Amino acid sequence: MKNVFIFDHPLIQHKVSLLRDKNTDTKEFRELVSEISMLMGYEVTRNMPLKEVEIETPVATAKAKVISGKKLGIVPILRAGLGMVDGMLKLLPMAKVGHIGLYRDPETLEPVEYYCKLPVDAEERDIVILDPMLATGGSASAAIRFIKEKGISSIKLMCLIASKEGIERVNREHPDVEIYCACVDEKLNDHGYIVPGLGDAGDRLFGTK
Ligand code: PRP
Ligand code: URA
Repeated sequence: MKNVFIFDHPLIQHKVSLLRDKNTDTKEFRELVSEISMLMGYEVTRNMPLKEVEIETPVATAKAKVISGKKLGIVPILRAGLGMVDGMLKLLPMAKVGHIGLYRDPETLEPVEYYCKLPVDAEERDIVILDPMLATGGSASAAIRFIKEKGISSIKLMCLIASKEGIERVNREHPDVEIYCACVDEKLNDHGYIVPGLGDAGDRLFGTK
């Protein structure tokens, strides 16, 4: 596995354990996904460039640092990625939001695209793709491909739980993309679900079955 950053912060680990618990209800699940996304977003943006500006405090003129460089765009993969948007926007209220609609064909496990709308100036932005689950890696890999096809080169992938297989697929198909996650789980079951994972993230977020 290459290009993977695993967030071992105790708050993130604690909240992911609550997410995994099958007794966690939809309301709490949604809140936890949002909180974890905010905590992870804090780390994902750690290398944002700063520039020095001069400001007037009530007391004196001061040199101060502000974020510079490329702006950020976040792109949730529908549906479950939607749960991660508000946590990121709390940190980055000026970020633009694109959407990619994909679902996994339950037989082939291959992703089927049904929607793609990105910010008009997306190629000038650093893009962070959001999806809580990286299982076979098919959905994330396809989303990255769509985004690259629009001429965008700066792409990161942020997920909550990843499988080794999913990470290896993204590494293989997109060696330039960094992956940020809270946990890496051992394996997938015969239906392509991450084990132990947390079940179906979309269903648990939206209360569907
Ligand atoms: C889930 C999840 C990822 C995908 C991961 O979405 O949110 O997008 O599966 O699996 P993969 O790595 O094997 O592609 P799903 O297809 O269940 O769609 P949904 O969010 O609409 O429920
Ligand atoms: N999608 C999910 O929501 N969960 C998994 O474990 C795998 C794919």
